[in-house]
Amino acid sequence: MRVEVFETYTDLSQRTADIVADLVRRRPDAVLGLPTGSTPEGFYRALVKADASFRQVRTFNLDEYVGLPQAHPQSYFSFMNSHLYSHVDLVPANCHIPNGMAVDPDAECRRYEDLIRQAGGLDVVVLGIGLNGHIGFNEPGSPWDARTRRVPLAENTRQANARFFGGSVDGVPSEALTMGIGTILEARQILLLASGEAKAEIIRRTLEGESDISVPATALQQHPNVTVLLDRAAARVLERTA
Ligand code: PGA
Repeated sequence: MRVEVFETYTDLSQRTADIVADLVRRRPDAVLGLPTGSTPEGFYRALVKADASFRQVRTFNLDEYVGLPQAHPQSYFSFMNSHLYSHVDLVPANCHIPNGMAVDPDAECRRYEDLIRQAGGLDVVVLGIGLNGHIGFNEPGSPWDARTRRVPLAENTRQANARFFGGSVDGVPSEALTMGIGTILEARQILLLASGEAKAEIIRRTLEGESDISVPATALQQHPNVTVLLDRAAARVLERTA
């Protein structure tokens, strides 16, 4: 895995947007795997200012909560609408997020996998990382060959996300639909973003620890084209860049 360390969160966000915008300029119908969360907010702020057209781009989000309608302010659809869709010339029919309200979630997950395959696979997937090492909502113990599926959320993930639901963990959905680690590992390029001191230890384990299913992000060690973009705080305890 290549590691790039930036002085500030703004710099790492701009670099991520530059990589993605450059891909879109070279391949106007690129297929992007996209994250939500607080980490990628700066990336989207920079991406919407990039000199690139998204008219033919296809996007697939990593995950969505089960049971939240699209219109719910904390749905990942709402997040994507306010951070990306409403600012660029993406065609709505080309923007995909698993449907957390699907009557048959298993069928929805199979449909999502089929859509990714029909699009030719993901050219790049941008990832955040959870404090427990999750990528998408693949919590510790997730098999590395897993495909898009319905998963329970780890208790510490629900606690971490309570801030978006009025501070109460009870308001956080207990399940999600997520691309699997197997789905993510098939992307041709992976960008893993982390910012802030709270992520420093999990970034150290991801980059320098044993590859183990108890830390899902260590699956990325197997992939030939991963760039890890960090600010100084997130890189603080790395041996190689100290
Ligand atoms: P965060 O979440 O960007 O809000 O820290 C990352 C994640 O849980 O994947």
